[in-house]
Amino acid sequence: MARSFILLYSLSRRRVSDSLRSLFFIPTALALTTSLFILFYISSTSNLFTPHPHRQSRRHFLQNPNGVSSKFDNLQTPVESQPQSSLDFDSLTPNLGVLEDRAGGAKTIPGSNGNSAVNEIIFHDPDIFTQDYIKMNKSFKIFMYPHNKNDPFANILLPVEFEPEGNYASESFFKKTLNNSHFLTQDPSKADLFYLPFSIARLRHDPRVGIYGIQDFIKDYIFNVSHYYPYWNRTGGADHFYVSCHSIGRVAINKAEEIKLNAIQVVCSSSYFQSSYVPHKDASLPQIWPRGEDDPPNIISTHRKKLAFFAGTINSPVRQKLVETWQNDTSISVHAGHLNTSYESALQDSKFCLHVKGFEVNTARIGDAFYHGCVPVIIANHYDLPFADILNWKSFSIVIATLDIPLLQRILRSLSTDEYANLHKNVLEVRRHFRWHVTPVDYDAFYMVMYELWLRRSSIRVPLS
Ligand SMILES: *[C@@H]1O[C@H](CO)[C@@H](O)[C@H](O)[C@H]1NC(C)=O
Ligand SMILES: *[C@@H]1O[C@H](CO)[C@@H](O)[C@H](O)[C@H]1NC(C)=O
Ligand SMILES: *[C@@H]1O[C@H](CO)[C@@H](O)[C@H](O)[C@H]1NC(C)=O
Ligand SMILES: *[C@@H]1O[C@H](CO)[C@@H](O)[C@H](O)[C@H]1NC(C)=O
Ligand SMILES: *[C@@H]1O[C@H](CO)[C@@H](O)[C@H](O)[C@H]1NC(C)=O
Ligand SMILES: *[C@@H]1O[C@H](CO)[C@@H](O)[C@H](O)[C@H]1NC(C)=O
Repeated sequence: MARSFILLYSLSRRRVSDSLRSLFFIPTALALTTSLFILFYISSTSNLFTPHPHRQSRRHFLQNPNGVSSKFDNLQTPVESQPQSSLDFDSLTPNLGVLEDRAGGAKTIPGSNGNSAVNEIIFHDPDIFTQDYIKMNKSFKIFMYPHNKNDPFANILLPVEFEPEGNYASESFFKKTLNNSHFLTQDPSKADLFYLPFSIARLRHDPRVGIYGIQDFIKDYIFNVSHYYPYWNRTGGADHFYVSCHSIGRVAINKAEEIKLNAIQVVCSSSYFQSSYVPHKDASLPQIWPRGEDDPPNIISTHRKKLAFFAGTINSPVRQKLVETWQNDTSISVHAGHLNTSYESALQDSKFCLHVKGFEVNTARIGDAFYHGCVPVIIANHYDLPFADILNWKSFSIVIATLDIPLLQRILRSLSTDEYANLHKNVLEVRRHFRWHVTPVDYDAFYMVMYELWLRRSSIRVPLS
């Protein structure tokens, strides 16, 4: 803005000949318009002009993409033309609703009493999903690049024999489950997509490769695939995908640009703040701690005594801020480091379980919360939430911008008993989509990932020449 004013000023001081005088109007008008535009932009996006941090902050954790009244409408004055903070983009997961929201202001729907959340369901559109799913299940075919047990890198390329465990289990579970599924085809001409079966988590722990060798390994692997097979070159890798849950996956592809630009990356670290992740092209893989086949506990919502719970290493400014703000609070329990008491009972005793960005936007906490029937509160800006194009995260979670950590208690307390009960009911409903099974079960995490891939299959089949 200051620059425009200087420009304007210097322009107006400049001596101009009479013949040019009429032309002078054009830059002046342009500069003036630009300045006004910038002024307008700043006033509509910054909080410099809006001395009501509370009203504003309360506004922007709830995006209202459908124009329906949101579950937090009862916090607001009915027609509030409050400009949103530019930080709204932080809280835009998973619905990109800001434009409609802006256009629609914060008007409540006549007749609504602010309880619409009670009617919210876990799918954006259950009918489309159900129909698509059946089609996908019948027709979707994957070609997995074959490797045999004698390959020196069989440990990286073949599915693991044991049942996957630990933090990065999602990666191994996917490959193992796919390997035994009806989606595989041995005939590449029938394939919709091609699977690059390297495991980044296993590469990292292979002494022959290690953290610093991963990039070259991936580059060599793509070189091999593109020289020994014709499929990669047909699309520049656009009908190829890999699956990774380790955050190192983000840099693993740095020496294989085509993967980053064209292939489908199914990754746990799905932060759209990172240049290596491209939302819509890539897909978010839920990080899930596997828990065997036992039925998950079913603690009903009224038996939860604590408002909110978090435990974890304080390894990020966001967690630092959370601890600083809430460490002495009695209703929000925040533990730095490991708990001495049971993690499971903390998840089962709390109404809300906090998922807070650490090194990465993703952790296993969302899956933990679902399993124990706790409503997740997601405090991780820029997180492209798993299955967000299928599932309506608003109906079973609360997404809060980092900036709103001080408002946490107020936000959670603003929910009525009915609204909470609905969130809790939806958590119990959605959790089957966040579980792995050795033999896949319809609509479980494996099938959901398959569906995400199916949505991204190429609409153009390139014929084999
Ligand atoms: C999906 O396919 C599998 C294997 O053919 C089958 O067992 C399952 O019932 C199918 N699910 C649906 C919903 O069609
Ligand atoms: C992968 O599939 C092949 C072919 O069906 C099978 O022989 C192999 O045992 C499977 N591997 C694992 C780890 O399930
Ligand atoms: C690429 O192919 C060569 C020759 O077959 C092989 O030695 C090498 O291990 C392969 N590299 C990768 C990363 O698959
Ligand atoms: C794919 O393209 C690369 C680079 O142009 C080329 O070297 C390679 O031979 C091609 N692969 C096949 C199978 O034709
Ligand atoms: C919490 O309590 C500790 C110890 O009494 C104190 O040093 C700290 O400032 C308190 N924090 C807040 C946010 O009130
Ligand atoms: C947890 O255990 C550690 C070591 O056993 C101890 O130092 C710490 O005070 C305990 N914390 C709580 C909250 O009991």
